[in-house]
Amino acid sequence: MTELKNDRFLKALLREPVDMTPVWMMRQAGRYLPEYRKTREKAGDFMTLCKTPDLACEVTMQPLRRYDLDAAILFSDILTIPDAMGLGLYFEQGEGPKFEKPITRPADVDALFVPDIEEELGYVMAAVSIIRRELDGKVPLIGFSGSPWTLATYMVEGGGTKDFAKVKGMMFDRPDLMHKLLDKLADTVTVYLNAQIASGAQAVMIFDTWGGILTPRDYKEFSLQYMQRIVENLTREAEGRKVPVVLFTKNGHCWIEDIANTGCDGVGLDWTVDIGDVRKRVGDRVALQGNMDPTVLYASHERIRKEVGLILESYGSGPGHVFNLGHGIQQNVDPEHAGAFVNAVHELSKPYHR
Ligand code: CP3
Repeated sequence: MTELKNDRFLKALLREPVDMTPVWMMRQAGRYLPEYRKTREKAGDFMTLCKTPDLACEVTMQPLRRYDLDAAILFSDILTIPDAMGLGLYFEQGEGPKFEKPITRPADVDALFVPDIEEELGYVMAAVSIIRRELDGKVPLIGFSGSPWTLATYMVEGGGTKDFAKVKGMMFDRPDLMHKLLDKLADTVTVYLNAQIASGAQAVMIFDTWGGILTPRDYKEFSLQYMQRIVENLTREAEGRKVPVVLFTKNGHCWIEDIANTGCDGVGLDWTVDIGDVRKRVGDRVALQGNMDPTVLYASHERIRKEVGLILESYGSGPGHVFNLGHGIQQNVDPEHAGAFVNAVHELSKPYHR
């Protein structure tokens, strides 16, 4: 086992002291990087990139060669799970994800099975192993999955949506069916994340991109409950270290205390909350990950630096903060601006850790 040379990210998630605030970016391997676009072109399409472990490893490493990041994130997608369940995922150029066989009838839910992870998603575990070897202890590797609710929205809508008509229709009219679907997804996500941990993921994150479209009652019943069940059944220690779990509900600002109470180690924040206010609300229960508005990266280096400084100041002194964007980095961002962001976090955060 190679020793981890930079464990700032893992320590911060466990609220242990660090020398400076660790930083990584959601979607750090992505289209804003010319080298990513080149590798993607070589792969032919996005899913082939995900399903070819050597290429997935290559794009995972690309942002780490450019920037002084404190964590790597597995290159994959949350929609590998519905794909493995037989829904047939494909990406239409410029249109986002689509499914050949979305869930449209009650019988579709009955027919779904928890996939054999090694058989159907072995390419993800292979990527995790190769990336760990390539990282050689430089920084920890984050594994991830979508939340059951967020996966269900794509599976029932058949792709992205603006109005969530089908998935909400099913939730309101057939809550029993929705629970059946979420139950199968929660089991699958649990096995999937545990397999990633067994293959070498050193922390895991659950992306609940669409939990924030629910009412408080429905959020607890249809999203949070299932994430909590997953947290309770994850492997929490591997290679002699704790494996921290981060939950991220976009637009989940009203429910941060509830999220913190699931037993997770960290809560991801989008940019619609003040991180200092959230810290007061949750106390020392969890670490916080976030939360710069990703569009600040379109501004000048000076403005980016100022924004980083304001967030650090709002969080204040002491451990428990992992710096990140409040959502994924956008594709038209200049890569040099991302570099200015990462450097600003390290430079400006040192006084808060004395
Ligand atoms: O963060 C990383 O660098 C790791 C890789 C990663 C991707 N998707 C790669 C990707 C992660 C963690 C995700 C998560 C993901 N995927 C989420 C949750 C986070 C969020 O953004 O809210 C969701 C909802 C998806 C589903 C998905 N995948 C959508 C809606 C799209 C198309 C949207 C778009 O940006 O075009 C994808 C495609 C996708 N996943 C790309 C990347 C780099 C772009 C594909 C391309 O190369 O064209």
